[in-house]
Amino acid sequence: MIPGRVIAIDGPSGAGKSSVSRIVGTKLGFLHVDSGALYRIMTWRALAEGVNTADPIAVASFADKVEIECRAVDGRIAYYVNGAEPGDELRTPEVNAHASEVATVKEVRDRITAILRSLVNFGDIIVEGRDITTAVFPDSPARFYLTASAEARAARRRKEEVEKGIANQSEEAVKASLLARDRIDSTRKYAPLKKADGAIEIDSSELTLDEVVETVLAACKF
Ligand code: DC
Repeated sequence: MIPGRVIAIDGPSGAGKSSVSRIVGTKLGFLHVDSGALYRIMTWRALAEGVNTADPIAVASFADKVEIECRAVDGRIAYYVNGAEPGDELRTPEVNAHASEVATVKEVRDRITAILRSLVNFGDIIVEGRDITTAVFPDSPARFYLTASAEARAARRRKEEVEKGIANQSEEAVKASLLARDRIDSTRKYAPLKKADGAIEIDSSELTLDEVVETVLAACKF
C-alpha cells in the first residue's frame, strides 16, 4: 500500500489549528489528525489512575499502559480508549493544566510519534500539533506554523469552553493557563514547539478563518 501524503500544521494553543485543519482536510480529502488529543488522552488517563503527572519517571512507566485504537471516522482519525471515544473530558481545565508536563516526557512523545507516523496507512492526512513540522513529519512538503496574539488565542479558547459548557473562567485565567502551557511546550528538552525552517508562518490574529484556509490551500501543491 502506498502511504498517504501529509500536511503538517504546528502552533500554540488557540491559534486556530483545529478549525483550519478540519476545513482544509474536508476540502482536499485528507483525514484530520488532532495530535494534541493523544497527549490529552495520556494526561486524562494518568490523572484518573492517580499517576503524579509532575513525576517524569512515573509518567514514563505509564506511557505504554494506555490502550489507544485509531479508526478513520467521518473524515478524521478517531481515538478509542477501552472501546469508547473520549469526549470533552479531554478538554477540562484539569487536563489543560497537566497536559504540557505529560508532553515533556520522552517515552510519551516516542509512543505518540510512532502512532502518528503509522496513520499514513489510512491515507492522506492533515496533522496538527506542536512538533509535527519539526519532529514527526519534518519531510512533509506542506508545513505551516500557525500563530496569533495571546489575546486573540485566549478569547477563542474561552469562547469555545463557554459554548461547550466545559468551563466559565475569566479571559485572564484562560490566557494565563495558555501562556503557562506555551512556556512549557516551547522550552522542553524533547521536540519543543518552534517554527521549523521552511515552514510557512501564518499569523491569524487579524485574519478570518476563511482567509487562513485560503492561504493554506494556496500553498498546498497537491
Ligand atoms: O493542542 P492541544 O492543546 O490539544 O495539546 C495538548 C498538549 O499536548 C499541549 O500542552 C502540548 C502537547 N502537544 C505536544 O507536545 N505535541 C503535539 N504534537 C501536540 C500537542
